[in-house]
Amino acid sequence: MRVLGAGEVLGERYRLERRIATGGMATVWLGRDEELDRPVAVKVLSDILADDPSYVERFRREARLAAGLSHPNLVRMYDFSSESERPYLVMEYIEGGTLAERIAAERSGGLDERLLAQELLGALASIHGAGVIHRDVKPSNVLLDRENRARLTDFGIAQPEDATRITRTGEVIGTLKYMAPEVREGEPATERSDLYSCGVLLGECLGAGGAPEVVALVERLSEEDPIERPASARHALTLLETAPAATTAPLGAPPPPARRPREIVVNGRLLLAAIAALAIGALLAALAFGGGSDSGSGGHKAAHRGTPAPTTTLTETTTSVTTTPAPAAPAPAAPTPPRHAEKPPSGEKVPPGQAKKEAGGD
Ligand SMILES: Nc1ncnc2c1ncn2[C@@H]1O[C@H](COP(=O)(O)OP(=O)(O)OP(=O)(O)O)[C@@H](O)[C@H]1O
Ligand SMILES: [Mg+2]
Repeated sequence: MRVLGAGEVLGERYRLERRIATGGMATVWLGRDEELDRPVAVKVLSDILADDPSYVERFRREARLAAGLSHPNLVRMYDFSSESERPYLVMEYIEGGTLAERIAAERSGGLDERLLAQELLGALASIHGAGVIHRDVKPSNVLLDRENRARLTDFGIAQPEDATRITRTGEVIGTLKYMAPEVREGEPATERSDLYSCGVLLGECLGAGGAPEVVALVERLSEEDPIERPASARHALTLLETAPAATTAPLGAPPPPARRPREIVVNGRLLLAAIAALAIGALLAALAFGGGSDSGSGGHKAAHRGTPAPTTTLTETTTSVTTTPAPAAPAPAAPTPPRHAEKPPSGEKVPPGQAKKEAGGD
């Protein structure tokens, strides 16, 4: 099959300018939409796969799924063609390179990890809301735009939950490192398995440090047991957004008991002993003051009737049995996170020319 080169025009409209990278299924080019006069990324299916109808179908599916979604943290899909010998799709060109490149260059420190988490979870909430599981959330599928905003891409293996599987039987798709344990074991991918991948990805960006609330979120997202993970991207977002910044409080911990009296259940032997002592004292007093023996024996009997050990609830101060709780302290307002771009960059920005690479695998 013919090898594509720079300068070639596809569909009488998209001029290929520079090869950016070759990934698992396709080669991505920086191109120019000559009709609208704007840069585009053109993803051309590899010549080996272009002959395989199942890959062409997967490619078409990627284009259709992405075209049906719109979110500020997703890469926009513009066009698709399977007319020519080499099917291709045309999407928004994102010039800042991939998160994988940032991590490799140890320049992810220029990113605000809380904001990154919010952006990726927002993107996932959007695609999950459309019934789509991404299945391949990984750093090379997160592009960074001019404002350092994260843009999730590559719906190549994403598909609606109820769609017939188009992968061949037994074929494992997705990148192992980011793949949820249950998916590795053959379970179907779910929203929670996308969350796992997102957790591993965010964990890589944190390195040794990280804001405690993001560290706590990463722990929850990358729980081995899917049940322990947040139920949805939206839920994870809420956990993050309601977590006070710079606190070690674990996300998803049970709500603090501030709305109820703080109770201490006392089932104490001490209390029993005190009551017994009081009863003996009363008996002795009654005897001393010439009271009848019945009352004393009655009390004694009572003590032997197996009266349940006294259980009571006390407030922490032990001054009264019940108290009205102090009004809950107002939740600290979540600080408006700065945009990545506003954060002093710890490394230089990737110029468009340096975002390219020859091999796109992780
Ligand atoms: N819209 C885009 N704008 C700019 N560069 C892009 C765009 N889409 C992809 N790229 C670049 O092309 C590379 C290859 O992308 P591709 O999706 O084909 O492979 P990959 O994600 O690296 O690996 P895999 O095939 O395993 O998904 C990306 O790593 C990125 O550098
Ligand atoms: Mg990709």
